[in-house]
Amino acid sequence: MQIAKTVKELTAISAAHKHSDIGFVPTMGALHQGHLSLIKAAKNKSDFVIVSLFVNPLQFNNPEDLEKYPRNLQQDIEVVQDAGCDLLFAPSVEDIYPPGLQNITLDISHIDSKLEGKMRQGHFNGVVQVLHRLFSLIKPKAAFFGLKDFQQCLVVRELINTYFPTIALFLEPTVREPSGLAMSSRNLRLSQVGKNKAARIYRTLSFCKTLFPSRTPQAIETEGKALFNEHGIQVEYLAIAAMDDLDTPTHWEKNKKYIILAAVYIEGVRLIDNLILNS
Ligand code: PAJ
Repeated sequence: MQIAKTVKELTAISAAHKHSDIGFVPTMGALHQGHLSLIKAAKNKSDFVIVSLFVNPLQFNNPEDLEKYPRNLQQDIEVVQDAGCDLLFAPSVEDIYPPGLQNITLDISHIDSKLEGKMRQGHFNGVVQVLHRLFSLIKPKAAFFGLKDFQQCLVVRELINTYFPTIALFLEPTVREPSGLAMSSRNLRLSQVGKNKAARIYRTLSFCKTLFPSRTPQAIETEGKALFNEHGIQVEYLAIAAMDDLDTPTHWEKNKKYIILAAVYIEGVRLIDNLILNS
């Protein structure tokens, strides 16, 4: 595996592979099985796999979250190498955002005004900026993202449709711990007690799914929130939304797909998860 720590190194290496089908997996490091599943998917569908590892300051609306974000480059290098990555791109902030780099504009207001976007102001704009830069530098044929960050997937789809229509977008299922807890770099900040509590997120979403479609969307949300409260889990949101536009349904419509999404705090760590209701 090759490692590029600057844009210059990246450009030199990728020039030698410009005729390959490049599969790209963007990450912020502290890698786990969820990231590895994306690398595996990229390996299956590409000749040359590039993984980026960059903790993007622009997408952290909370400075403490940025500061506490787990970083472990040496371990990540070993993990991606074992997973069969061909090139790891681990640039500095200055390399990704050099002076004079223009912000790009993308109308994502219909996604940004809801749930994650509403709670984390500026977060998706930060994601858009970094991915535009990374896609422009790497020029992949295919890009791989996890459905765990469902709203991010919608933002990426918008970015690709608008600026990079030749990139094929692959959305991969959420990888979970045996307890059901969705793998996340943030889980590293939880104690064992916190992890056990966090397993309730998936259990609660799964229970909510059993109530679909016999109960109304509102009744299911109320039931789910009550369950979280019962177990002392602080809920930021628990919401059912239509998968295509994230609109809140008042009743179920045939032929529409729905998803239940949650953001909760456990031991001060913000965790998100979701489950597709009609799958
Ligand atoms: P990060 O949180 O490191 O996640 C990188 C990719 O891994 C994302 O596509 C995310 O959805 C996926 N992922 C995370 N947990 C997963 C799980 N349990 N199962 C499957 N996939 C999972 O998402 C980001 O970084 C950043 O916003 C980024 C896209 C890199 C832009 O900075």
